[in-house]
Amino acid sequence: MLLFKQTIASAILNAANALWQDNGLTDKELFDMLEYPPDDTMGDVALPCFKLSKLLRSAPPKIASMLAEQIGELDAAAVSVAGGYLNFKISPAYLLKNVLTAVETAGDRYGKNDMGEGKTVVLDYSSPNTSKPFHIGHLGTTVIGHSLKLLHEYCGYKCIGINHLGDWGTQNGKQIVAYKRWGDKAEVEAKGCDGLVELYVKFHEEAEKDPTLNDEARAEFKKLEEHVPENIELWKWFLEISLKEYNVTYKQLGITFDHYMGESFFSDKMDAQIQIMRDKGLLKLDDGASIVDLSEYNMPPCLILKRDGASLYPSRDIAAAVYRKQNFGFDKCIYVTSAGQSLHFAQWFKVMELMGYDWCDQLVHVPYGTVSIGGEKLATRTGNVVLLKDLFRQSIEKVYEIMNEKNPDLPNKDEVAEAVGVGAIVFHYLYNSRIKDINFMLENALSFEGSTGPYAQYTYARTCSILEKADDMDLTGEAVLTKPEESALLLTLSKFPEKVLDAVAQYEPSVITRYVIDVCTAFNRFYQACPVVTAEDESVRATRVRLTRAAGHVLRNALRLICIKTPEKI
Ligand code: ARG
Repeated sequence: MLLFKQTIASAILNAANALWQDNGLTDKELFDMLEYPPDDTMGDVALPCFKLSKLLRSAPPKIASMLAEQIGELDAAAVSVAGGYLNFKISPAYLLKNVLTAVETAGDRYGKNDMGEGKTVVLDYSSPNTSKPFHIGHLGTTVIGHSLKLLHEYCGYKCIGINHLGDWGTQNGKQIVAYKRWGDKAEVEAKGCDGLVELYVKFHEEAEKDPTLNDEARAEFKKLEEHVPENIELWKWFLEISLKEYNVTYKQLGITFDHYMGESFFSDKMDAQIQIMRDKGLLKLDDGASIVDLSEYNMPPCLILKRDGASLYPSRDIAAAVYRKQNFGFDKCIYVTSAGQSLHFAQWFKVMELMGYDWCDQLVHVPYGTVSIGGEKLATRTGNVVLLKDLFRQSIEKVYEIMNEKNPDLPNKDEVAEAVGVGAIVFHYLYNSRIKDINFMLENALSFEGSTGPYAQYTYARTCSILEKADDMDLTGEAVLTKPEESALLLTLSKFPEKVLDAVAQYEPSVITRYVIDVCTAFNRFYQACPVVTAEDESVRATRVRLTRAAGHVLRNALRLICIKTPEKI
């Protein structure tokens, strides 16, 4: 479509230049004016001419018909006028030549572009807090973050994915207090992360009754900052336990990071930044704590140092941003967190600006909404959480049951059940625009019908099984399109490169998730209407096999961009 829209935009520009001298229009302006009509019987792309009427001083229907006449015949499309709209219906020859062949030639690269060539993007995502559970609230940052990384890579950016673990804060002090008071080495070793979470929950229950425990936690964290060996040893051990468990989940999602560089990594890199704030006269004392006053910008103050001199979350973020700029030379640094942290980011971005970092506009916060299950919000402190690993396990088990029923002889059932079970959750999550709050329903996510992961993966597997049947067929005949469903499928496939650009521009993986469903719908309609391997005519059969392969390619490319695996058999 990108190519098609470009072709159309230049045809319009040529016509406009012939009709209205010195109109000042550009290809790009016209390209941006083009729309997809809601009803495609009118056309596949349309120019709403009211957008030109002021410039050209003429009524939209007049402009439309003058342009249509001037353009005359086009190879790429049939041109028509409806009121003030100039409509373009893409031609079958164009679809075959420029879409089918483009998908076939590019294969795994179809949809890629080089917009980001020579540029570096750092993405900070997932970043769980090592003392707290890795729960479904982290699903968003983990999958949106990784998908944005894959999408940027697809656009030619060099990407660096960082897991900015929350491994350095009062919560780590709390964990140490809890362990020292109630912990048992063998038990924690046996229970892993669950053991640590139990201790964390216990700490909060006890601190309700005895608030001095909070002071104790602060003191333990302070000792950690002073590198007292006993605390450092414990902290390292807890970190190891947490990472081991996170890695199971990351592996299920097919996610890897370029760096695990958590908050602790910056513990010795903050002083230099705090000194700059001091030198610039930005720091103020407020009840013993050091803050940057942001009232002028309608924000509460940004807390830099606590009363006891311990550093805070914003200070570590500032140190991390400077470190990343110096070491990775990014053109953009993206932070994916829940919308609950929007103020935090707005505050320290402002502090960076006041410190004189003129690249601070390259820092981008990408927020997302909350997740609840069955209408209930999650709270770590009370232990009312759904762990990501439990949700994945439940989903995988259900898929396994369904597979046992429907396809008991499937080879590598474990692997497929994991891909479908985990994929269902990811797909369900990434289907909504990220800022929307979502109420998670496993049954809906797992349905094989509707806009779900299993439906998409199943459609992909269907393309594979058709291709398997067509394996030894001769596909050299001249391509022909004989049914509207074939053209409609190609038209849908043609939109992929543009969807990739949209998803990146809006930091919105859901653009891809929704597009996957469009492809599945178009493919399944095609499949219903058009016999593929059993088509009698050789050319028709060959074209349909090629269409099936192209649809499979696009589905696979798109699903991978949203962290979803694509088993060939389900
Ligand atoms: N650890 C934080 C949390 O779980 C998220 C960190 C996000 N990244 C950052 N650079 N602040 O809420």
